[in-house]
Amino acid sequence: MSNISINDRQDLFRIDTANTSYMIGVKDGLYLGHFYYGPRIRDLDLSYRTAFAPENALKEHEPEMVIFMDCSRFEYPGWGKGDSREGALKALFPDGTSCVDLRYQGYEILSGKAPVPGLPSTFPGEEEISTLKIDLKDPLTGLKVSLYYSAFYACDVIARRVEVRNEGATEVVLQRVLSATMDMHSNDRKGRPFELLTFHGTWAREFTREIRAIGHGRTGVASICGKTGNRAQSFLGLVSPDITQDSGEVFGMHLLYSGNFSSMVEKSPNDEIRVSMGIHPEEFTWNLKPGEVFYSPEVVMTYSDQGLGRMTRSFHDLFREHLIRGKYRNMKRPILINNWEATYFDFDMDKLLSIAKQASECGIEMLVVDDGWFGRRNDPNTSLGDWTVNEEKLPGGLKFLSDRLSEMGMKLGVWFEPEMVSPDSDLYRAHPDWAISISGRDPSRSRNQLVLDVSRQDVRDYLISMISDVIKTANVAYVKWDMNRHLSDLYSADLPSDRQGELLHRFVLGVYDLQERLLQAFPDLLLENCSSGGARFDAGMLYYSPQIWTSDDTDAFERVRIQEGAETLYPLSCLGAHVSICPNHVTGRTVPFMTRGHVALAGTFGYELDITKLTDEERKLISRQVELFHKYNDLIRNGDYYRIASYRENGLYDCYGVISKDKSEMIMTFIHMMNQPCRPNRLIFLCGLDPDKRYEVAKISTSEIKDGEEEASPIAEAYGSTLMNAGLVIPCMYGDFQSVLYLIKEKK
Ligand code: GLA
Repeated sequence: MSNISINDRQDLFRIDTANTSYMIGVKDGLYLGHFYYGPRIRDLDLSYRTAFAPENALKEHEPEMVIFMDCSRFEYPGWGKGDSREGALKALFPDGTSCVDLRYQGYEILSGKAPVPGLPSTFPGEEEISTLKIDLKDPLTGLKVSLYYSAFYACDVIARRVEVRNEGATEVVLQRVLSATMDMHSNDRKGRPFELLTFHGTWAREFTREIRAIGHGRTGVASICGKTGNRAQSFLGLVSPDITQDSGEVFGMHLLYSGNFSSMVEKSPNDEIRVSMGIHPEEFTWNLKPGEVFYSPEVVMTYSDQGLGRMTRSFHDLFREHLIRGKYRNMKRPILINNWEATYFDFDMDKLLSIAKQASECGIEMLVVDDGWFGRRNDPNTSLGDWTVNEEKLPGGLKFLSDRLSEMGMKLGVWFEPEMVSPDSDLYRAHPDWAISISGRDPSRSRNQLVLDVSRQDVRDYLISMISDVIKTANVAYVKWDMNRHLSDLYSADLPSDRQGELLHRFVLGVYDLQERLLQAFPDLLLENCSSGGARFDAGMLYYSPQIWTSDDTDAFERVRIQEGAETLYPLSCLGAHVSICPNHVTGRTVPFMTRGHVALAGTFGYELDITKLTDEERKLISRQVELFHKYNDLIRNGDYYRIASYRENGLYDCYGVISKDKSEMIMTFIHMMNQPCRPNRLIFLCGLDPDKRYEVAKISTSEIKDGEEEASPIAEAYGSTLMNAGLVIPCMYGDFQSVLYLIKEKK
């Protein structure tokens, strides 16, 4: 089924999803304009709407070309013709000019959706997909742009990307190539100005939600540190004021890219908005020889007129079905125990084996050896790049460890930080030119390490061979791929001076190439990306790893807010979440053991603590948490996520549920964050149930248990409509950070 409609004159194009329509068209036979994005519509011709707008008839207004350029709604604006808003494409030509005038050339409907060379991209999966390709060309220079649109019908998502081809006779230098822009109205359907939703953060404080007014001029989020970073998600949303989970409009856009990005909104004097998203033009140039093509990263976008919840569920479905790949995509992941917070650098074979032994007795399935197993690495100042095991610490090497683990029925996971090199390393001593740094300048260090120039093929070949050796010899089932600093002192010894501006994009392509090669070589490998916690948690990385470490802040109280932010944008199945020790190492806070488990169950689930130091009672609770994981992880991974109440908003409690697609079963987590005296019970209004189904509500786990034994206890039976409208009473709990899990199951 094609979701693309075209009018008889073949100059208007409408792309439909189940609930949305997106319309573009040719203006006066010359320019590609943006006409509509919003709820599903049936018409193709919207010219009645623009009859009086200055943008309408260009030919009648030739003398006012500049006004036309500056006011008209373009689909992919060029540069230098009078449009003073943010341009999408700019190039430097040999004569020193940089004007790009993109004229409509033609279109094509392609069946399927092709991958983007070297970059992550969404794929059709089970869905039949057609792609609309629209060609624009600058007549003078021969720079050609192809815009690609593919609709994921059921998920209500449209994927967009751009190819720039040099059809001219001389080399040009691309100075900006954004992936998508969208010119649109600035008010929601009730006439209220849209606001901008973004997520900002820093180390251990990722995914902080922020909504700001959109004033005139430019506002947005960006990264120029060489990776996505934790300062901002590369996502942006335009939202109605007072947006809620189930009311208000949202336009949400994600960039599938893991480097510098720019996500901007610009309000013009006539109150129009231009949204733009793509590789940050700062520190970016790309030399394009005649015949060469540049591929932009993909943007995925959705529209919801039913609040944030629908946007969230659309992106969850898209990422689970059309972006995340590999064996583990739809599979339960092994429950792991990571030794980082248990030992930091201070461990040896005996210590790891004693952790593994206790862990396996509690049902934990994999030991992850974090930082410190290689070279002479007993602190963060040395040995990155020397990926050979430290036999003083681990006699017999990782192979010995892995053999002992498999005797216990456990798997081995290993930490790497492939993109880094310590100045104190054999690798750096042998290849100082492999580090990104400027000759004659003392390079800025961070954690006393430098960044390896993975834009180079020889560097990548070295890394692949080192990492593959470790994986092969020790039968490694999981790799935690870390990345712990920004890029600075930009210079690649491998690039000529006129191509240094390509380094950052080539670096990202290099990271993708490394991970792709690793996955091709080891298709069963489970990869978890990480970057000082969640500093490279982006949709691009999900194409390579089905899970990403969400934050180094493992305090369950903090995690409730961090995970709420992450869950707004990404499926629960990809949120790295562990139970750690208290007082928590980052915040010093103590949260009940069972609450820590309940919070981690909303992610990949695992442990990050010295299990040998726990009490028998706590170990019993681990077995209980493991049992809950096995019972409910299928539902949590695959179901529809509903945010029921937010501690961020009410300051007292948090509540979310995941319901199966057939609406027969929901697991709901309630966390009583802050106790207060003389407080009434909480009344929770459930969401997402089938109003006509009758459900039984049972308490399946609570943080208040002491001895590790608990029974599911039915507490209510009612129709979905009743539970959603009359609500469910959650009895007041004693103490802070207490939690309960409920199962709300259809009664047949
Ligand atoms: C980063 C990661 C941590 C841990 C350390 C090891 O900070 O986020 O989980 O792996 O590196 O150095």
